[in-house]
Amino acid sequence: METKVLSGKEIAASVHRELGERVARLRKKGTAPRLVLLRVGDDPASISYVRQKERAARELGVEAETRVFPIQTSEARLCAEIRDLNAAPSVHGILVQLPLPSHIDEKRVLATVHPRKDVDGLHPENLGRLLRGDPYLVPCTPHAVQELLVRSGHAPEGKHVVICGRSVLNGRSLFAVLIQKAARANATITVCHTGTPDLAHFTRQADILVAAMGTPRAITADMVREGAVVIDVGVNRVPDPNTKSGYRLVGDTDFAALLGVAAAITPVPGGVGPMTVAMLLWNTITACEVQTAG
Ligand code: GUN
Repeated sequence: METKVLSGKEIAASVHRELGERVARLRKKGTAPRLVLLRVGDDPASISYVRQKERAARELGVEAETRVFPIQTSEARLCAEIRDLNAAPSVHGILVQLPLPSHIDEKRVLATVHPRKDVDGLHPENLGRLLRGDPYLVPCTPHAVQELLVRSGHAPEGKHVVICGRSVLNGRSLFAVLIQKAARANATITVCHTGTPDLAHFTRQADILVAAMGTPRAITADMVREGAVVIDVGVNRVPDPNTKSGYRLVGDTDFAALLGVAAAITPVPGGVGPMTVAMLLWNTITACEVQTAG
């Protein structure tokens, strides 16, 4: 079977074009959408992600600023910064890059962001709204997976989606997105996790298999039904002495081994990642439209 490689980069470019029109409409009305990114510490992956988000925002005409805090910053100091941003009318979106250092309670920090400015969709109010079926700002990676599926001709309606991983950021929220009784969702879903015995028994039943467990190349060819669509959410740095940086990015699937087995698969990098950034900008523009409406 020939496997189609789904370019998240190309699909994200088409989303950016649509978002560019929304930014132009806002600017015509005299509003510049503005995103503030908060990063604590110097985790190399976080530095890279935040830089990508800021750059993509600017390319689209969204004002973006990153505020960097030293690793020893207290939770109280970080929350005070968030409250200031909540109160600033010129700021429409706030993103706290995760993970945070272990002395800071992530849940308390995420709950401090005003729900209307919560462009990560991780505030309890936004997660609750998603779960009860009236979503406002949806977590970026699950939304990215949904848009990628729909826009590549693999709409999830009526399909059996098997999700590996139950993090709030990815697997658990993707379940909430794809279980919606709505167009572009309406899937039958199995969520597998570290407590699932015989993972392959479940993954082999997937029409659409989503790997989001954070384990390099965990999904091997024998775990995938021929003709399945495979979405790889994993971003893992593995050592590679042949590269300048000394590492290379791989996903949660054995990409090379799945070529010829899957009907379609997303690469890492260049698959879900660029779409996640596009969905962050989507949320920032939506938040700006809502805050300046009327
Ligand atoms: N770290 C890894 N992915 C994400 C994300 O989607 N949002 C935030 N805030 N941090 C992350």
